[in-house]
Amino acid sequence: MSATILDGRAIALKVRAEVAQRAQALRARGIVPGLVVILAGDDPASAVYVRSKGRAAEACGIAARTVRFGADVSFATLQATVAELNADPAVHGILIQLPLPPGVSAEQTTALLEQVDPAKDVDGFHPQSLGHLVAGEPTFVACTPSGCMRLLAEAGVDPQGKRAVVIGRSTIVGKPMALLLLQAHATVTVCHSRTQDLPAVVRDADIVIAAVGRARLVKGDWIKPGAAVIDVGINRDGEGKLCGDVDFESVALVAGVLTPVPRGVGPMTIAYLMHNVCLAAARAAG
Ligand code: GUN
Repeated sequence: MSATILDGRAIALKVRAEVAQRAQALRARGIVPGLVVILAGDDPASAVYVRSKGRAAEACGIAARTVRFGADVSFATLQATVAELNADPAVHGILIQLPLPPGVSAEQTTALLEQVDPAKDVDGFHPQSLGHLVAGEPTFVACTPSGCMRLLAEAGVDPQGKRAVVIGRSTIVGKPMALLLLQAHATVTVCHSRTQDLPAVVRDADIVIAAVGRARLVKGDWIKPGAAVIDVGINRDGEGKLCGDVDFESVALVAGVLTPVPRGVGPMTIAYLMHNVCLAAARAAG
């Protein structure tokens, strides 16, 4: 079997066209959806992501700007920035680009994410957003898991009754992903670094979401023939080449559906960020 390779960029453009329509409708009511990204430090990958977010926003009719700080930014300055953006009615969405510089501790990062007004939490990282997701209530859903669900839908894969395996238990991808699949009536297993015999667990799955951050971890002989495989990973291999968590060549021979890296999940994350900004603006407008 040879997998159908999903074109994340084309599907993301479709999502962005839907968002652009919503943004246009808001603008017709005098509301310009507004996003502010806080970028601190000089992480090159973050700079690339933030540029892509800015370009996507512009194309969708969303007013976006980036507040930049050096790597030596203080926690107090970041707190003051979040407070100011929380109070600004023209700002509908606030995104703190991660990772923050090493001078900002993990506890401080958590405090900043929790300081963001939940009504402006377009990343879906606030505990209130996550709590609503657990309860199955309307909320801002983290953008990468939303994008993965849309990729499955576009591929005609209905999770209902299927066995889904999520590899990775991060708060920003693995956990919300598992909750969305559960909401869609899949039987969900979440795997992590201490899972025993990971290949055997993955072999049972009709849907595999790889979100663990290990280059080409998932091999073709782990995959049930015909399974849908979504690769969230963005890694560099030993030669510096961009690759996912899935060994694309071997998995493509077995899977039914597979996302590539790049041009798979990445563009979908950005598209769903734009979706969340319009949702925030619409909610703010009542
Ligand atoms: N860093 C890498 N991906 C993301 C993301 O989706 N949101 C934020 N805030 N930071 C990131």
